[in-house]
This record gives sequence, C-alpha cells and structure tokens, in this order.
Amino acid sequence: MPIACVVLAAGLGKRMYSSKPKVLHELCGRPMLQYVLDAVEGVNPERTVIVVGKHSEQIRRAVTGSRISYAVQKEPKGTGDALLKALPLLGSFEGTILVLNGDTPLITVNTLKHFLERSRKHADSLSVLSFFAGDPSSYGRIVRDDSGRVRQIIEERDTSPEQKEIREVNSGIYAVSAPVTRLLLRIRINKSKGEYYLTDLVEIAAKEDLRVGVYGIGSEDELVGVNKRQELLRAERVMQERIVNDLIRGGVDFIDPVSVHIHAGVEVGRNTLVYPNVYLERGSRIGRGCTVYPNVRITGSVIGDNTTVKDSSVIEQSEIKKNAQIGPFAHIRPGSSIGSRAKIGNFVEIKKSVVGDGTKASHLSYIGDALVGKDVNIGAGTITCNYDGKEKHRTEIQNGVFIGSDTQLIAPVSIGRGAYVGAGSTITEPVPPMSLALSRVPQKNIRNWVLKKGLTGKGEKKKGGRQKRVR
Ligand code: UD1
Ligand code: MG
Repeated sequence: MPIACVVLAAGLGKRMYSSKPKVLHELCGRPMLQYVLDAVEGVNPERTVIVVGKHSEQIRRAVTGSRISYAVQKEPKGTGDALLKALPLLGSFEGTILVLNGDTPLITVNTLKHFLERSRKHADSLSVLSFFAGDPSSYGRIVRDDSGRVRQIIEERDTSPEQKEIREVNSGIYAVSAPVTRLLLRIRINKSKGEYYLTDLVEIAAKEDLRVGVYGIGSEDELVGVNKRQELLRAERVMQERIVNDLIRGGVDFIDPVSVHIHAGVEVGRNTLVYPNVYLERGSRIGRGCTVYPNVRITGSVIGDNTTVKDSSVIEQSEIKKNAQIGPFAHIRPGSSIGSRAKIGNFVEIKKSVVGDGTKASHLSYIGDALVGKDVNIGAGTITCNYDGKEKHRTEIQNGVFIGSDTQLIAPVSIGRGAYVGAGSTITEPVPPMSLALSRVPQKNIRNWVLKKGLTGKGEKKKGGRQKRVR
C-alpha cells in the first residue's frame, strides 16, 4: 500500500513564549521539524505535505527533504483543520496517509515502520500510535470501552477526573486510509479551545464501525511532544545521548560523555579521544586518532587525522589538516586552513588565512587575511596589521620564512621565500627572498645616564654613601 505523509507544523507554539515558530526550535543543532522529516523519509513516502501557517517562509527556508510540498493553514484552527488543508495537495492519492505532529522530534524510522506494519496487518481505517506517559497531562488520553476497544481520544482540558487517571496517551502520529479523510468534515469545533481536533476523528470513525487500532509501541523517550521549553530540554538530552552512544559504538572515546555537546550529523573518527566539556557543532568532521582537550568548541570545521586540539580553543568554519596541533587558547576564525604538522599555539588568533604545512606560530600572534607558506616560523607577538581603518589588506609570507618576535607586518605586504625578519621590526615594504629585513632603530647605550639624572639605580647598592659609577 503506498504511503503519503502529512506533517502538521502550522501551530503557533504559544507555550514556548518565542518569536520563532515552535517546530524550528533546535535540538542538538537541528530544527525539530527536520528530525521528523528525516524519520518520515525512512518509510519512503510517495510525497510529503508539510502544513505551515504564519511562519511559512521561515520554515521553507529552514528544512529540507525529498518530494516535499507545502500546504498553508492561514489560521491555526486546530490539528483537524490542518490535515484538511493538506488534502488538496494529495490529489487522488489512494493509500495510507501517515500523519505526524511536527513537534515530535525523537520519533525513529523503526517505530514508524513497525506502526505502519501493524496498521496494515489489521487493515485499519485509522490507526493511532500511543504510549504510556509518566505524566500524561500534556497529552490526549486514549479512552477505551470495557472490552478494550478504542472509543475516543480526549484532551486534558476536557477530561473527567477518572479519565485524568488514564496514562495511555496519543503520540500525535496516525495512519489514516485515504477514504477516511472525508470524515474530517464531520469534526465539530471544540468548545473549550475553539479548534477542530484531529483526535475527534477517532470517535467519529469508531461510531461508523470502521476499524480503529491504537498501538502502544513506542517509549515516552521517543514520543515526547515538545510544547514547552522543559520538554525541548528533555528531548535534547535524549537526542544527545543517542548521538554520543552512536559515536561510542563507532570507536570514539569520551572521558565524560555526559558533559560534551555534539550536534546531530557531526562525524568523529575512531580512536579519537574527547575530553569533558567539548562542543562539536553542526557541520564538523573530526578525523581519526585526534585528541580534543577540555573546553574546546569546534563549529562547521573539518579536523584531519591525528590532530590535537588543546584546552580552551575555538575553531570556526575552518579546516585543520592532519597531525596538526592547535591551542591551548587558540582561536581559528572562519575561512582558515591550517596545514598538516602545523602548530598554532597559546593565544594565537588566525582569521581567513591559509597556513602551510609545518608552519609554527606558537605564541601570542594575530594572523589575518594572510597566505602563509610551508615551514614558516612566526615568532611570538607577530601581528599582521590587516586593517587600515577602512579596508582589509592581505599579507603573503612565502615558504621557509622566519619572522622574529614582536614583528608587525603592515599589509599589503609580502615576505619572499626563505627571508628573515628581525625581531621587533615593522615591515612596510616587500621583503625579497633570502634577505634579512630589519626595521629596528639601532640601539644606543648612554653610560651613567641614571647617575647623571640623580636617580638611583635599583640594581646597584650605594657604598659609603656614594653611588658607584660604572665604567
Ligand atoms: C496534540 C494532540 C494530543 C497529543 C499530542 C501529542 C490534538 C488536538 N491533540 O496535542 O492528543 O497527545 O499532540 O504530542 O491534536 N498544528 C497545526 N495547526 C493548528 C494546530 C496545531 O498545524 O491549528 C500543529 C502544530 O504545529 C504541532 C501539531 O499540530 O506540530 C500538534 O499541535 P500542538 O498544539 O502541539 O498539540 P498538542 O497540544 O501537543
Ligand atoms: Mg504538541
């Protein structure tokens, strides 16, 4: 039987107190709705319709998937009305419509498959995926008759005191056989909420003597509906645990897996060791055999094999090749590429620069808008002065250059292959290859200047009340 999917995402999400549409709130760096779409893709639907409302444009820009189209529900008149709005886009589809709420991000493909199988096996007209909730108060309760047959789903605000005790609840995931959708028009507005409840379809179908199946096959950890920020945090914790466990299974070592934060889709190679309090954010790929020390944040970056990132470093939208060493306290800013065996050490900031293989900038430097060759030595305190207050300029440092400590390179400027720059220089002109550039003022020593000034040389002891002259 062919499957089509409808994902309901037009609600306002008032309970989040947010200007962002609820389904775009993120867990582990990915919008909730994207997780639902990814799960849905696993059941191979012919097409998927997402019902969106006021935030339609924002949602379209934020998520991706195959064979997706969008239906618009201008006013959020309830989940029953939302499904109705999707139907024109399903045209003459005859199979089973898998309907999901967009705020159920932990749902897995396996559970969806299992659910659809059960629905098919029982030839249901309508199936509901249920679960048992520790605290059922934010879900619709599954009401069964004495023989265990489902009669209705009742929302919290409409429950009687006995019904409040029911712990079997609706996950918001349904399999609806296409012809049953005509019954949607029979849903009456819910007086207490002023909305058309999709859940009322259960009672309508049951009264028509259609086959309605309710299957309690998922866990609460998988089916939590995110309406409030507390639930988002809960979902985030579960997702985080899944991500970390997958990595551990793939051969990654963690010293304290509970303290790290890893976004969905981040790859980490085997035999990489991750210390506590590390953030690996979206789009990052860490190679094999790396060590990532505590308090490091890597975002949108690719790290080669056997590279070490020492404590408290930040790497953003950059590439670090293999066998490199970064940190401690280094900041690699967007658009940088650091070569293999390179060393970027303490308090070094690199911005939009290419640093060649084997190059070292071990301490206290700023390298911005620069092209740095291979095997360059950048002394402590070197600064590329890339900004003149108006525009940014480039610095080129060719292979094998030695830059002495505390040098300023006033861009645009270039240092030719193999050249040396003496410590403390301010370089404003291009340096030819294999030359020495020095811009220091020659040193002069003024003998006994201190005494002539009538000052006390702190290092020299007075003898017999007279200051000793130095020859
Ligand atoms: C809903 C169910 C409840 C179930 C719970 C599971 C109803 C009436 N209740 O409650 O039985 O236990 O989900 O998590 O369906 N939406 C629209 N248009 C609207 C209203 C909502 O598209 O007019 C979308 C929302 O964006 C959301 C989904 O439908 O993704 C569910 O809406 P929500 O308000 O979260 O319903 P719950 O109160 O959680
Ligand atoms: Mg909800």
